[in-house]
Amino acid sequence: MDAYKRLLLGNKAWVEEKIAIDPNYFPLHAGPQKPQFMWIGCSDSRVPAEEITSAEPGELFVHRNVANLVVHTDFNMLSALQFAVEMLQVEHIIVCGHYDCGGVKNALTRHDFGLINKWLRYIKDVYRLHRRDLDAIDDPQQRLDRMIEINVMEQVNNLAETSIVQRSWKKYGRPTLHGWIYDLRTGYIKEQACLRPGAKLEPIYLFDFWDEPGTEQKEESKPLGDAPPVPSPAAH
Ligand code: CO
Repeated sequence: MDAYKRLLLGNKAWVEEKIAIDPNYFPLHAGPQKPQFMWIGCSDSRVPAEEITSAEPGELFVHRNVANLVVHTDFNMLSALQFAVEMLQVEHIIVCGHYDCGGVKNALTRHDFGLINKWLRYIKDVYRLHRRDLDAIDDPQQRLDRMIEINVMEQVNNLAETSIVQRSWKKYGRPTLHGWIYDLRTGYIKEQACLRPGAKLEPIYLFDFWDEPGTEQKEESKPLGDAPPVPSPAAH
């Protein structure tokens, strides 16, 4: 049997299992989605978001990429983020990394992977920012584990530094941002970081949303030189 057919058979078995427990399972879950959580995780096959959190369909709005990165020019991630924050109005965004992450591990080598170099470069930048702390750890396994933890914290910061999140924090007081680490060796998730709405950020990343009604434009938030003076309220 072709290996892929096992998945289609698995699907049939899953449908039957769900209907056996609740005949209305699928009609009940076919309505509009209203997930409370956005999940940004690694593409790694060993870290299935719903499975490891016992979440049902409709509960997690999921975006996954290599090494669970939040890159501020990644339109795929940003589109999912904007949709989750503005349309779905999620209360929590979880960046979930995991130990033994191949993306992080390989970013710490000098191997040339071709195209992937460009993605792993963001992880190398995280290493450079924290090199002193990381290089102080002698044990290679502990150093890699710490790098994976630091990477998740940096990605949570990256989320907080988007205008999408900052606007929502200011207007609606949500979402809370979480950094989690999944331990493949035990199955448990560890809470690594949490940024609540209004958390203190590096000032250079803070936006003054002076285009919001009733907001005075401050001197330091005026654009310089030839930049257009009035961004549209919808701009991000
Ligand atoms: Co990974």
